[in-house]
Amino acid sequence: MGNILFGGNKIFRLWKMENVILANGIGLPAVGFGSYKVSEGQDGTRVVKDALLAGYRLIDTAAMYKNEEQVGKAIKESVIPRNEILLTSKVANTDRGYDSTLRAFDESLRRLGTDYLDLYLIHWPADKAREKDWRNVNAETWRALERLLKEGRARAIGVSNFMKEHLVALSETADILPMVNQIEFHPGWMQREVYNWCVGYGIVIEGWSPLGRTRVLNDPLLIRIAERYSKSVAQICLRWAVQLGVIPLPKSVNPERMKSNIDIFDFTLSEEDMKLIESMPATGESGLSPDNITF
Ligand SMILES: NC(=O)c1ccc[n+]([C@@H]2O[C@H](COP(=O)([O-])OP(=O)(O)OC[C@H]3O[C@@H](n4cnc5c(N)ncnc54)[C@H](OP(=O)(O)O)[C@@H]3O)[C@@H](O)[C@H]2O)c1
Repeated sequence: MGNILFGGNKIFRLWKMENVILANGIGLPAVGFGSYKVSEGQDGTRVVKDALLAGYRLIDTAAMYKNEEQVGKAIKESVIPRNEILLTSKVANTDRGYDSTLRAFDESLRRLGTDYLDLYLIHWPADKAREKDWRNVNAETWRALERLLKEGRARAIGVSNFMKEHLVALSETADILPMVNQIEFHPGWMQREVYNWCVGYGIVIEGWSPLGRTRVLNDPLLIRIAERYSKSVAQICLRWAVQLGVIPLPKSVNPERMKSNIDIFDFTLSEEDMKLIESMPATGESGLSPDNITF
């Protein structure tokens, strides 16, 4: 596949996976590995090492996941050089603000055993209902991320769970627009308003819970489509996201499922099937939103 323009993002084939280019020229793989809960009843280091072996090069963690040490250990012990791995972490809600974000970043680096991140995100915007000053809190947290970017300690910066109103407010004070917005994104929950806004401003979307945390895997429409392509429903969900220029972040502790979740580059969903999936009614959403987060 040559260079093509995809929802505002240039995508091209780089060894195993196609690449998505951020506004500052940094390339991210078209699919990443989600690490939330990878250590629940498992050895998180083993899981992340298996993901690297399976071919994942974009690893998503967060201070709130409390697994940064395990992720860092996996990277250290793996045969893949650090500079071939794209590592993301996120500032926790309790650390919002300029100084505390800079401190939280240093703590994440220490736990991860690295001296830079490829992508650093604000995990959730400040809550409008509980923080009158939410615009300023987000602006100050963002100012810290801009500093980390300028110092080269974060190669790219972005946000997570920001809806259109948070992005519009942030754009009024920001020097640099977020390069990424990581939101819940799967068939039945594509959050079209924020998706459209991000595509319009060249902000790449990463999709969390791209399988709806399994809640969409029994959907009859998705099963019918999967049968037609001789693929699994999970592969259909992930391919759909990739064709929309969204980077899905599937999580699995199972090496076979890890492999099948990135084995999605030998088929293309037709326009008609893309539209069918886009028109699904609300299905499988987590119910989490910036307005009801209490952690
Ligand atoms: N920014 C945020 O606020 C936010 C919020 C939530 C999540 N995230 C990120 O997004 C990542 C993914 O989201 P998620 O973990 O909520 O959900 P997900 O990736 O949609 O689903 C994970 C679930 O699907 C199962 N699974 C994986 N591949 C499968 C397959 N091929 N067939 C059947 N089942 C499969 C997994 O089980 P096994 O492990 O047993 O395979 C696990 O139970 C997280 O790990 C995290 O990095 C970010």
